[in-house]
Amino acid sequence: MKFKALVSSESNKKYESKVQSRTIQDLPEGDVLIKVYFSSLNYKDALSAIGNKGVSRNYPHTPGIDAAGIIETSESKNFKVGEEVIVTGYDLGMNTSGGFSEYIRVPSEWVVKKPEGISLSESMALGTAGLTAGLCVRKLINHKLTPDSGKLFVTGATGGVGIVAMMLLSKLGFEVVAITGKLDSQDMLKEYGASEVITREDLDQPLISPLQKSIYAGGIDAVGGNVLSNLLCATSQRAAIACCGMVNGADLNTSVFPFILRGISLYGVDSAETELGIKEEVWNNFSSAWKLKDLENQIKEITLSDLPAEIDTILKGQQIGRIRVKI
Ligand SMILES: NC(=O)c1ccc[n+]([C@@H]2O[C@H](COP(=O)([O-])OP(=O)(O)OC[C@H]3O[C@@H](n4cnc5c(N)ncnc54)[C@H](OP(=O)(O)O)[C@@H]3O)[C@@H](O)[C@H]2O)c1
Repeated sequence: MKFKALVSSESNKKYESKVQSRTIQDLPEGDVLIKVYFSSLNYKDALSAIGNKGVSRNYPHTPGIDAAGIIETSESKNFKVGEEVIVTGYDLGMNTSGGFSEYIRVPSEWVVKKPEGISLSESMALGTAGLTAGLCVRKLINHKLTPDSGKLFVTGATGGVGIVAMMLLSKLGFEVVAITGKLDSQDMLKEYGASEVITREDLDQPLISPLQKSIYAGGIDAVGGNVLSNLLCATSQRAAIACCGMVNGADLNTSVFPFILRGISLYGVDSAETELGIKEEVWNNFSSAWKLKDLENQIKEITLSDLPAEIDTILKGQQIGRIRVKI
């Protein structure tokens, strides 16, 4: 059987992605074959498509760290043909042929049964970016932050992680300050839950001081670098920050002062390798108490052939909101 997939390959040291025809035999081993209905575009997919060896080592390769679809064949006792499922992370789309494809074949240990209260298309409006935002919020809630603790920041606010983090925190009653490089998007950010919008420019500079005015009870950081270094020092007593990204830089310039004088906590979130049970918990939340009705309004839905242009946009940091891919 032939099917369509986006294939990234190298020619003359340049990477190019095109929709090509593939067969089931081209897919890696795995005990479940899934017909994919929706995927989504994440920053990591863009890195995979341009030959970033930290993400994908072998080419030609089909990126796509997310997939939502229906079990086509199963050798696992846990999954039946016809069940609706979600796969995000682990090795999908990295060194395992990914979700930008009509079919994936994966180990059943990577597969989440889709909860009742969310559709396949809604699950991919969230995708890995949304799941990551949910995992970050879970860290802050487990730290016992409540709306009474004080205001929280969200960096990379117009991006995939940022927009879901902001919508979810605001739904849960938190006061959210959106930190963005796109001040012209402030009306949109306020519409989706920010009570205040500030520019990242003031924070994107060498460490201003090792302890700064206490402004935030914590926050969610999707950008790292100077921005996170400065925000760590602008938190209040026992603040909690969940950190998940590095578009601003991988370095963290800090001192022990915020930790030993304010007792703050910095939590790391690694959505890809998060244990399946925690992913299931977060998907269940998104299908019930955390359901984000407004998310659909800011989704851009594209097809496989639109992906190369969208990959360029996300790499330039010009992405706004979430991109869902209808397969
Ligand atoms: N750890 C994990 O499990 C995990 C999971 C998913 C994503 N991530 C990481 O999280 C980050 C965000 O992912 P995403 O899917 O939200 O990406 P995205 O949709 O491309 O959004 C990133 C946002 O960051 C901001 N930004 C861009 N360039 C920047 C710069 N030079 N300095 C500071 N901010 C910049 C922009 O928002 P503004 O203009 O509004 O500032 C941009 O929209 C990426 O590093 C990604 O790899 C990690």
